[in-house]
Amino acid sequence: MVGISRSAAVAAASTLVIFGTPQIANAGTSSGDAVVVDGTSFALNGDNVSYRFHVDNSTGDLLSDHFGGSISGSLPPAAVPQVNGWVGMPGRVRREFPDQGRGDFRIPAVRIRQTAGYTVSDLQYQSHTVVQGKPDLPGLPATRGSEDDVTTLVVHLYDNYSSVAADLSYSIFPKYDAIVRSVNVTNRGEGNITIETLASLSVDLPFEDLDMISLSGDWARERRRERRRVEYGIQGFGSTTGFSSHLHNPFLTLVAPSTTESQGEAWGFSLVYTGSFAVNVEKGSQGFTRAMLGFNPEQLSWNLGPNESLTSPECVSIYSKEGIGGMSRSFHRLYRKHLIRSQFATSNRPPLLNSWEGLGFNFNESSMYKLAEESAALGAKLFVMDDGWFGNKYPRDDDDAGLGDWQPNRQKFPDGLDPLVSNVTELKAANTSTDLRFGIWIEPEMVDPNSTLYHEHPDWALHAGPYPRTLRRNQLVLNVALPEVQDFIINFVSNLLKSADITYIKWDHNRGVHELPSPSADHEYMLGMYRVFANLTSRFPDVLWEGCASGGGRFDPGVLQYFPQIWTSDDTDGLERISIQLGTSLVYPPSAMGAHISAVPNQQTGRTTPIEFRGHVAMMGGGFGLELNPEELDEHDKAALPGLINLAEKINPIILNGDMWRLSLPEDSNWPAVLFISEDGSQAVLFYFQVRANINRATPWVRLQGLDAQATYNVDGVGTYSGATLMNMGLQFPLDGDYGSKVVFLEKQ
Ligand code: GLA
Repeated sequence: MVGISRSAAVAAASTLVIFGTPQIANAGTSSGDAVVVDGTSFALNGDNVSYRFHVDNSTGDLLSDHFGGSISGSLPPAAVPQVNGWVGMPGRVRREFPDQGRGDFRIPAVRIRQTAGYTVSDLQYQSHTVVQGKPDLPGLPATRGSEDDVTTLVVHLYDNYSSVAADLSYSIFPKYDAIVRSVNVTNRGEGNITIETLASLSVDLPFEDLDMISLSGDWARERRRERRRVEYGIQGFGSTTGFSSHLHNPFLTLVAPSTTESQGEAWGFSLVYTGSFAVNVEKGSQGFTRAMLGFNPEQLSWNLGPNESLTSPECVSIYSKEGIGGMSRSFHRLYRKHLIRSQFATSNRPPLLNSWEGLGFNFNESSMYKLAEESAALGAKLFVMDDGWFGNKYPRDDDDAGLGDWQPNRQKFPDGLDPLVSNVTELKAANTSTDLRFGIWIEPEMVDPNSTLYHEHPDWALHAGPYPRTLRRNQLVLNVALPEVQDFIINFVSNLLKSADITYIKWDHNRGVHELPSPSADHEYMLGMYRVFANLTSRFPDVLWEGCASGGGRFDPGVLQYFPQIWTSDDTDGLERISIQLGTSLVYPPSAMGAHISAVPNQQTGRTTPIEFRGHVAMMGGGFGLELNPEELDEHDKAALPGLINLAEKINPIILNGDMWRLSLPEDSNWPAVLFISEDGSQAVLFYFQVRANINRATPWVRLQGLDAQATYNVDGVGTYSGATLMNMGLQFPLDGDYGSKVVFLEKQ
């Protein structure tokens, strides 16, 4: 699996390099070694991807050769770029780690303010190492795998003028066609330097006709898929909110203009980070397209003293020749198996009932217990008490007080939480001997000015000196970079978990960062927050942790490493949710999505959809549940719930472990459809929706994908057909009226 070790590589016959074209004597083959090094030419080989680059002997710069479908052996000679006009050679080649100030006028991946004040760097190849497996990134979330899963190449660069070292790490997970890159910069000089820009990944593709796909939105409208042409110049997006945000997601896909869901080339890039980030795409004069993901330079000004280092988050790149869907499935598998660390990553999730939309802040111990009783009677297996249970001097009866005071409110819970939790956990889920489990909502990184915590520790809130501390939802953000704040959070959450039989936490986070004490405070916060997440999730591995941030404001791979599921959106309207969940699924596995049935008219949109439609949409998420007060439902809806919960439980293992095929998209079709196929291919489940009634036209055929053409499948309630028939001809499901839906099981014979 390994390529040549460093010593062997150095001893290998020297590589003849024509500018930009290494004549590799010993290159990888498409099915060969994961990392192959020949002299100073490097090949990373996945099952269906090759990534190649080499050192330009005349400059020491790393030049890119290929990132795409598998290639093998020597590379054909590349034409030497013509240098005339203002752009020098560095601006006419494809570079792995572009700097600024020496003739490359495109957007840089690194910009360092040197001790003397210059912002020029000259990072040249020095050496490299090949490591079996993948070393962890200090203090940061990262993909992980055994020596059989992943191999890592580290290329060591050095700037002789400034004594700055940069290590580029490339890890290849061959089975997923995934290449993961991060960068570590170390100050080896004697003065201080400042890192002003640092991209985790920079790649120059030799194409100028590309589309870019991103996920953008706002609160209750998260992660809508947006596709646009890459035009000349720089286009991009990012977050300056301090967190990954509802507005943009740290994810980018580049595709050929002809690429569709099921066909064509796609390059997907996903930044494993929860802080502010920047994604930029630049089409330059040379016909290349540069893509870059990393820290947001507007919130990075990182000081490094002698021998200090800064490590960037990692960026996962996945190449697929099987369209956008193929790329998504590789991300899903990789993230399920090599990113999410929780034992719940692929194990069945209990259907839950959350109190938020049903009771809001308006409850006490007995009304909460009553809701739990109703939940159990419907068949829920986990009951979650949301916001409003804490605070005494400043009770949390509304959203303007109490955050930070994590003691149960004595008016609502005279003897603490334990009596409620004990009573709830004695209830049995309907028709089972399964105890109802208890979960609770917290928002640990926040403080209300109306709280004892704030009065005791006003300096714990993020603020910039004398500037006013601007409020959102009446609250401030704690500075989680401070060790005392980290310890406060770790202690109160640990004590809460020990105080009663609590087996689920919803970790919320309801505002962005405004005034920062310094430009590097955001990343310092992230390092503190990851320390807290790592500490608590490893100390309480049996707890199911669900992330949340005003709905889906922090749905990113950084959070996913610690929390196996994330609340996808505060918009629980079934129709809106199809777009939100399918958008989210471009990169994140369906197993990670919290998705609930709520009451109608929907609290966000005012829309009324049938309970079956809402239920079917919600069961496409791994964390299925209800978010309503059953007492307020009409007879039909209430009667439908036990059946929907049963169905969701039956489907859940396929959603958690299976492959997702987006058959038709809500933005293109009145009949969105999704097929999930179990990991072993033996079972599948089809979700089919009709948004508006179909008047006076034929019922469309839905053609399945991903099945075994030679096999036969029993289609529940329809008949037995070959995979080829189901994929090439399809099935028809006539549905009545608006918001129709159908869930169909397929069993391989
Ligand atoms: C956020 C969450 C909701 C709910 C409320 C409680 O908005 O997204 O699900 O927990 O906070 O205040």
